[in-house]
Amino acid sequence: METTFKVYRFDPENGSKPDFATYQVDLPDSATVMDGLRQIRDEQDPSLAFRASCERGSCGDCALRINKKGRLGCSLKIAKTVKNGVVTVEPIRNIPVLKDLVYDLEDFLWKKIKAVQPWITPREPEPEGEYVVAEEQLAEVRKAMSCVMCGLCDEGCAVIKIDKDFVGPAALTKAYRAVFDPRDGQHDERLTLVSEPGGVWDCTHCFEANGHCPLGLEPTDRLFEVRDEAIRQGIRSGTRNPKVQRHYDSFLNSVKRSGWLDEGRLAIESEGLTNIAGLAKLLPTVIRAIPKGKAPLPYFHHKRPGAEAIRRIIDKAQRSEV
Ligand code: SF4
Ligand code: FES
Repeated sequence: METTFKVYRFDPENGSKPDFATYQVDLPDSATVMDGLRQIRDEQDPSLAFRASCERGSCGDCALRINKKGRLGCSLKIAKTVKNGVVTVEPIRNIPVLKDLVYDLEDFLWKKIKAVQPWITPREPEPEGEYVVAEEQLAEVRKAMSCVMCGLCDEGCAVIKIDKDFVGPAALTKAYRAVFDPRDGQHDERLTLVSEPGGVWDCTHCFEANGHCPLGLEPTDRLFEVRDEAIRQGIRSGTRNPKVQRHYDSFLNSVKRSGWLDEGRLAIESEGLTNIAGLAKLLPTVIRAIPKGKAPLPYFHHKRPGAEAIRRIIDKAQRSEV
């Protein structure tokens, strides 16, 4: 299959600006995007830099933006992604590029994963000999154990785009794995750590992380399970992100006022009523949503039946929190 590859090129050492280079490749239908990049490097341009290791979807090294979507280059067949004969390959977003398709994960991913301390601290007293865990005891954490740390959920995360301090769904998926491991002796300390500002409570439930995980691990759901566990253990939460706080406040006030969510108002109040630049950024979304009937008129929001009962439930829950 003949395909045109448009590949992001950037070399900070030669002072040039980032650009796309075009290459023609001819590969069998079963070839992956990584096969295409390798053919380019081996036969056309040995200076092309990209990263790959396992070549079987297990190490996360080859995470790239392919035709505008975060994907693993070694697992994605060209035939599955090609559009009008073209495959566009770029580094993932919001990350410093070192050269071409090689980027620096240190601040974006590794520091955040280390911050949640995702290693097991054995319970005391440690069992003598091997610590055998029954399969059913590990069933909970199986999904998170398959995480290959590709960082694609963080790339899609709506909060990281505006708040680099948010630890993000990739690290919190690792935290989940430790929180629910029956061998861990730091259960509550771990939950307290990830409930700090920048942790689980800074997620705004956009569910983008689920849509971006190439392995279907549903990192947003894992994060919510950590939250639920923190609530069960009575561990308090916190956010220092004013936008996230405004989002929570608006959400709560809306449901308290009318029994359901005023989505238009939520978008405006999350940005902040005086944040003109932030509000202007919403306009393209609103313009796209109007013809599809998905742009609810903010502030013209009727009360749903049962709103009073919902308000009383929230009042009661708030009183019990004090
Ligand atoms: S949860 Fe999925 S998207 Fe996120 S780092 Fe792990 S494998 Fe990648
Ligand atoms: S090279 Fe390991 S996941 Fe692609």
